[in-house]
Amino acid sequence: MSLRPARPVLTRHSLEGDVLRLWGRDDVLEVSAPLEGVLRLRHAPGARHSTLGFPALPEKRSFAVTHEGHLPLDVTSSEEGWRVSAGGLRLDVDAASGLWSVTDAGGHELARATGLTSDLASELRRSTLSLDAPAGAAYLGFGEKVGPLDKRGMRFTFWNTDHFPHHTDSDPLYASFPLCTVIHEGRAAGLFLDETWRSEVDVANLDDRTLTWRSAGPTMDLYVTAGPSPVTVLERYTALTGRHPMPPLWALGYAQSRWGYENETDVRAVVDGYRSRGIPLDAVYVDVDYLDGYRVFTWDRDRYPDPRGLLSEMLARGVRLVPIVDPGVKADPGYDVYDSGLAGDHFVKTWRGETFVGEVWPKPAVFPDFTRDEVVAWWALHFERWASVGVHGVWNDMNEPSCFDFPGRTSGFESVNASAAKVEGKTLPYDARHGTRRHIEVHNAYALGMNEAARVALSRAHPGRRPFMISRAGYAGLQRYSGMWSGDNSSEWSHLALSLPMLMGMGLSGMALVGADVGGFNGDTTGELLVRWTQTGAFYPVMRNHAVLGSRSQEPWRFGEEVEAAVREAVELRYRLLPTLYSLMREATLTGLPPLRPLALHHADDADAVREDGAFLFGPDMLVAPVLRQGARRRVTYLPAGRWAEVFNLSAGAAVHAGAA
Ligand code: NOJ
Repeated sequence: MSLRPARPVLTRHSLEGDVLRLWGRDDVLEVSAPLEGVLRLRHAPGARHSTLGFPALPEKRSFAVTHEGHLPLDVTSSEEGWRVSAGGLRLDVDAASGLWSVTDAGGHELARATGLTSDLASELRRSTLSLDAPAGAAYLGFGEKVGPLDKRGMRFTFWNTDHFPHHTDSDPLYASFPLCTVIHEGRAAGLFLDETWRSEVDVANLDDRTLTWRSAGPTMDLYVTAGPSPVTVLERYTALTGRHPMPPLWALGYAQSRWGYENETDVRAVVDGYRSRGIPLDAVYVDVDYLDGYRVFTWDRDRYPDPRGLLSEMLARGVRLVPIVDPGVKADPGYDVYDSGLAGDHFVKTWRGETFVGEVWPKPAVFPDFTRDEVVAWWALHFERWASVGVHGVWNDMNEPSCFDFPGRTSGFESVNASAAKVEGKTLPYDARHGTRRHIEVHNAYALGMNEAARVALSRAHPGRRPFMISRAGYAGLQRYSGMWSGDNSSEWSHLALSLPMLMGMGLSGMALVGADVGGFNGDTTGELLVRWTQTGAFYPVMRNHAVLGSRSQEPWRFGEEVEAAVREAVELRYRLLPTLYSLMREATLTGLPPLRPLALHHADDADAVREDGAFLFGPDMLVAPVLRQGARRRVTYLPAGRWAEVFNLSAGAAVHAGAA
């Protein structure tokens, strides 16, 4: 921690084009109001000592924020500091400390900075911003994170990680959404730290009155969003970062997947299995087994002699194939994706400027630098050619990016002395190069360009058809391109239960089109678990049964007739809900609100509802309380205010229950 100088931190200001710049000896703070009810506070502590530029910070091209333009600022200054009014909010900045508070028109405090420091000597925690965490406030969101819905008392790292197998307390996982909805005394506000650098958040864990963000980068680019409803917070966040495009109807149906469907015979057998039993099915996902030696954009012609023929045969049967796409490109001279990528200088480099070579499924492998537009365009060209044979949907996997090994690898946790090859998790080293940027700066945003390319390619390959995509990794704004699944969960009851707060956290982070692997990916599921998971998954926006290579077969008919019948019933329920889900996804494209919602979204004034994560809402007024425990035949659930009719008994004269007073 650095000591603050006795002199005022901020001493001067300028106002240019509705951006207020405040600065003092070392620090800069830029303030703007992108939208009604949203203030952007771009802090650069220690800017004078950095390469940032001082006191004018360089233009930033955000990976997340697509909204352009600012509202006018009304600025007054005094001995003590500055007062800024804009978009219905007020910002008070204290010159002496450089700290600030944001209040809404009713005088409610939305956020207050309590500390801002820079530590140039720290590789991982160069900038620190602390905010007041009022007693009783709940912190919801942060995307794909473990733990209860309310993250108060927890700490997280934002560093997209292929964590296999992950556990119910593993962090970090595959995606980074450094944002949350704060609910305090029934009112909501949003915090979004738009930094792709490796970062951390301490949510009133070490100090129960403080939320602390730490970033390896030199700035802290914070958006404070007004509610007072969490619905408004989410609408505003997605107005800044974009909303889902409408998925095709078939993608909202039920899908079967498995790592280990080896060839087209296996795929046909799955479809036959469903059709012959009358269990609805809209898609079969095909895993890396279809690839020719793990070369992206190929098909193994022994296993899949005629992809175009198979895809159209399946389409005629009402089934889409959804192939996997991995970013790692086999470094194999003569293979066109590798050759053209090398010729175009499209791959990530080592710190020395050579092409970075690692290992994933393809060995050796190189990695497209998706942070650059020309690389996105190049990938889209290969993708389009490959997809034009009839691929309408894909799952973009391994895009943290996952890299199992590379020469000279040393773990970031093992080595105190920075080595050029220092790495954290199974990925590229901090020092790999993306143009002029280090990997540690853009790692978390890597998946965005890959998904953008896929959307462009699918749209071009099939004009007039809506593309469908899910991604494993992502950063804020991913929803503009793709949905997500929650990666490699396990066939355990605890992972079924975890899927609820996790998917709700993703929904509050702008990701409406989400799902977890039904039945569990890692390990062997049981019939009972599969039934309960399918019943729960009937309400996941993306409903896919998926399992790891070598595990017990997970198709519904593998567990006897009773399980098969129960799964069929759950899948049929899904199809009865499909018009509702389709309408809810349409709503997501317009407002950002997800189909699968925490009770908190519509009952922010109810402290019990705000923390409820064993049940969820499907749309605004259908409450789903799935059985999440082995052996349970029924369960209790909390009902927030209102009159609640039992859905399954509706035709028999519904029992109606009164919710909380
Ligand atoms: C990791 C993915 O998360 C999983 O779903 C997939 O089956 C394997 N990669 C193999 O491609």
